[in-house]
Amino acid sequence: MARYAHVTGWGMAVPELVLTNADLALMVDTTDEWIVDRTGIRERRLADKHDTTASLALQAAQRALERSEVRPRDVDLIIVATSTPEHLFPATACLVQDRLGARTAGAFDLSAACSGFIYAVNMAAQAIRSGSIDNALVIGAETLSRIVNWDDRSTCILFGDGAGAFLLQAGEKPGGVLSCVMRSDGSGGDLLSVPAGGSRIPTSLETVRRKLHGIQMNGREVFRFATRVMASATQEAVQAAGLKLDDIELVVPHQANLRIIEAAARGLRLPLNRFVINIERYGNTSTASIPIAVTEAAEAGRVHPGDHLVLVGFGAGLTWGAMVLQWVTPERPVPARRRRLSALWSTVARLRSGLRRLARWLEGLLWGAASAGKEPDESRPSPKTEDRR
Ligand code: COA
Repeated sequence: MARYAHVTGWGMAVPELVLTNADLALMVDTTDEWIVDRTGIRERRLADKHDTTASLALQAAQRALERSEVRPRDVDLIIVATSTPEHLFPATACLVQDRLGARTAGAFDLSAACSGFIYAVNMAAQAIRSGSIDNALVIGAETLSRIVNWDDRSTCILFGDGAGAFLLQAGEKPGGVLSCVMRSDGSGGDLLSVPAGGSRIPTSLETVRRKLHGIQMNGREVFRFATRVMASATQEAVQAAGLKLDDIELVVPHQANLRIIEAAARGLRLPLNRFVINIERYGNTSTASIPIAVTEAAEAGRVHPGDHLVLVGFGAGLTWGAMVLQWVTPERPVPARRRRLSALWSTVARLRSGLRRLARWLEGLLWGAASAGKEPDESRPSPKTEDRR
């Protein structure tokens, strides 16, 4: 029997702190008029010292689970698409897995910059359709404010923090993820990057002094690339789904610049009211921008069962991609009982995590005591033996 991968849960989380264009004009040489005119952005959200990529991802994931009827223990896979992971490792997805109490889930991060959410949904949908898993949580989460160069007026005005999540579930009813195109062009890698902190340019006092850990971008080139690929990727994905542009009720574009979205609409000859646009309130939240926009559209009653949606994005890499989704899940309020259950699961997850840490510590003590009483293993080469070889 054919299996389909449906979006049955969605959720978002943004920090409370709002940074307006007027606030930015106090920090760098810019104005509200310039930012609105060139980007469409009016304000963005900023993580405070308690918010991290994992904490925002967790909140979005909990909301997506509340909306679906899936419990954390039934989640098989967690993918966090992010360019601002909590650490180089462990994966942010593992931190979410632990705090969620998703005890039988595999978890990994996916790095494809702002196209990451589309890539991740496609990976999860393929795993579901192959029959290897039933339920997947896909999260796009960012704290870009931590890697923005706040002295660079051409980039610091663009980005914001936030997270969005989908719960994808196996189903027999046709629909869900119908098609996806994923593309890349590494020859444009230098157009948008965070140069240092990886293996090529490890962190040093010098890299910090030269602000090489902040976002660097060739805005005009990225703009040209984006306007080129948004329309073509949408057309490819629609064609791959066996549909026509007229069949698409809603396009959910990556929210990077209103002028890029307008150019895509012109290229596709679609009216702007068929696009979900919320860039004025959040700026560019990278991997989180598409799921945040879908969540807001669904909650505003703009998405109906049977509707065809295109999700389309682009980003550093260069990467780009588009996906056609057929929505199946009716919009209905989340019962208060499910919210209470979600709070209970999260308390249980915290307790379980604490107990596992305690058990690991005790095990370490016992193992240490046991091995202290043993003779050294002569069969193993000692560092000195190695040296002599
Ligand atoms: N306030 C005022 N002036 C600014 C400014 C700001 N925040 N940022 C740049 N400028 C100035 C530039 O210094 C330049 O001045 P100059 O002509 O004296 O050199 C002038 O504005 C025009 O700069 P330009 O880079 O051509 O502007 P633009 O119209 O291309 O807009 C971006 C700049 C960054 C908004 C635009 O290129 C863009 O959005 N690119 C895509 C970026 C993107 O989407 N990145 C994320 C991908 S996921």
